[in-house]
Amino acid sequence: MYATLTEVLEPAAKHNYSVGHFNVNNMEIIQSVLQAGKAQKSPVILGTSEGAIRYAGIRFLKKMVDAAVADYPDVPVVLHLDHGTSSTVIHDCIKHGWTSIMFDGSHLPLQENLNVTKEMAELCHKNGVSIEGELGTIGGVEDDVSSREIIYTEPDVAAKFVKQTKVDALAIAIGTSHGAYKFEGEAKLDIGRLKVINELIKTPLVLHGASGVPQELLDKAANNGAELGHPEGVPEDQVKRAIENGINKINTDTDIRLAFLASVREFFNQHPGEFDPRKFLGCAREEMQKVIEHRIELFGSGGRA
Ligand code: G3H
Ligand code: 13P
Ligand code: ZN
Repeated sequence: MYATLTEVLEPAAKHNYSVGHFNVNNMEIIQSVLQAGKAQKSPVILGTSEGAIRYAGIRFLKKMVDAAVADYPDVPVVLHLDHGTSSTVIHDCIKHGWTSIMFDGSHLPLQENLNVTKEMAELCHKNGVSIEGELGTIGGVEDDVSSREIIYTEPDVAAKFVKQTKVDALAIAIGTSHGAYKFEGEAKLDIGRLKVINELIKTPLVLHGASGVPQELLDKAANNGAELGHPEGVPEDQVKRAIENGINKINTDTDIRLAFLASVREFFNQHPGEFDPRKFLGCAREEMQKVIEHRIELFGSGGRA
């Protein structure tokens, strides 16, 4: 069944666990997330970036998610716009039945971020849709914005931001970044800062750029020809500490991409004569499901559906 972000995050905040946000771009990824949600009896958040919407088409994405919701009736599903910056896309998502929107104004001057987020929150709430805002900047590579430096979230500014905008969830910057190359020095989050923010704010907090970049996937990809340099993810003990200290939504895209890549590369190495897409996409779907189930176990949302 469809759910809003608020419906899945309220119990998460009450019982100290996180709900996984998984980025989806095509049918196999959507199915792997739902299959994992069903196996773990967990709610799931399907994140569609503006790039995913450009790639798959808004109607296609919505119809595929409608089908997934119908096929997995016991799994609460939030359909969430990830890093929305365009008012046109936000209006389109609301019109097409997304149940949650992220407005990412983190690249704007503070007052402008605050004003536009407040305006978008009013629009979302009027339409029964939840909204996530972002304060501070998460580093790394996204579709349209790359290599932004991390600007850590200031706790007192975050308190004011949440109060004035009335967002339902807030993405904060405590040291993570998007993509596979997350840390130059030690792989460590600013948990002290998170603690202070969590004391000041009752609204659920969100951790972006939180993929673990598992070594076994890197090895599998490298052993089958991938050249990825030296990727590094967020260690699992850091993710656990973040959850213990108030993070209730965790975004994962890179680990899903790596699972897809490693599986497809291995498949073609092992079956050089195969050309039926159902074979290699089927393997990729299974590999992605395993990774997503592992993330759900780490986040503690299993058994909460
Ligand atoms: O936060 C970014 C997500 O990983 C989505 O990436 O914009 O390339 O779809 P994308
Ligand atoms: P990763 O690149 O760490 O998977 O983060 C994804 C994300 O934050 C999507 O919004
Ligand atoms: Zn993100």
